Amino acid sequence: MSEPLPLVVVSPEIPRPWCEALDERVEVRPLTDQPHDWDTRVVGILPILTTRVDGALLDRFPRARVVSNMAVGVDNIDLEACRARGVVVGNTPGVLTDATAEVAMMLTLAVARNLAVATLDAREGRWGPWHPTGWIGEGLTGRRFGVIGLGAIGAATAARARAFGCHIDYAGPRPRPAAAELQARHLPLDALLEEADIVSVHCPLTLETRHLVDSVALRRMKPDAILINTARGDVVDQAALLRALDEGWISGAGLDVTSPEPLPPTHPLFAHPRCLIAPHIGSATRQTRRAMAALACQNLLAGVEGAPLPHQV
Ligand code: GLV
Repeated sequence: MSEPLPLVVVSPEIPRPWCEALDERVEVRPLTDQPHDWDTRVVGILPILTTRVDGALLDRFPRARVVSNMAVGVDNIDLEACRARGVVVGNTPGVLTDATAEVAMMLTLAVARNLAVATLDAREGRWGPWHPTGWIGEGLTGRRFGVIGLGAIGAATAARARAFGCHIDYAGPRPRPAAAELQARHLPLDALLEEADIVSVHCPLTLETRHLVDSVALRRMKPDAILINTARGDVVDQAALLRALDEGWISGAGLDVTSPEPLPPTHPLFAHPRCLIAPHIGSATRQTRRAMAALACQNLLAGVEGAPLPHQV
């Protein structure tokens, strides 16, 4: 009799063909809220970013050696609980960098140039003869693009903003090597907020960055500046953002992430003409999502087999 394959649980939302690397190396069962008698045999866990991986979930799988998140962000995972149980954690950096930077630029352009209101007006019959003051926004050329967190996605976004003629500033705990090529200035956060025409958030969500962009930060921004967030909703204090838009502290916002997600359709930010909200589509390209799943599978297999993870957190 051959040895049974190691048992892993994988988020059932991930299309099975995206995880073909697991075939014949592990036995896959769905990761659900429902406890099963086979939970104690599970040696690896592959969640998506909406699964909260905390001590209670880990205790259901006492033999798990690895949690391989299908996401670059790991704020859904209690890293301390994993560490305490000797569980290694993997994530999927790199493969979603360009896709997310594209969405940051898409939101920047759309908000700066009033795309949402302009297209809605056109569709709904408010498109009169061309008028010199119609749907005026702000251009990007020559403007200051401020990046909070010049990691891979921040740098990729900054490179695109430079191609649109922006000057780059960034804030973060330390100077970053990517800054030289981008001719980017490293500024204290307060100075960046005061000088930037566009502030784009790219830092991970941690205890330190929760509500980093709060009412004090938003009040520092210029009244014609815009805020873009493709990182995590909780980095921005949303109630403060609503007030900032209503009271004209800033001129617009483009959000790919909110708090909570999904944001209820009745939320006042949806009704705000200067706020454009996308439903967390930063990594949503066919190639990227498959690549994220493939990388998550590699991390999972490595963890199950006791090898170093290709991307360990
Ligand atoms: C997406 O938000 C990710 O963290 O991968």
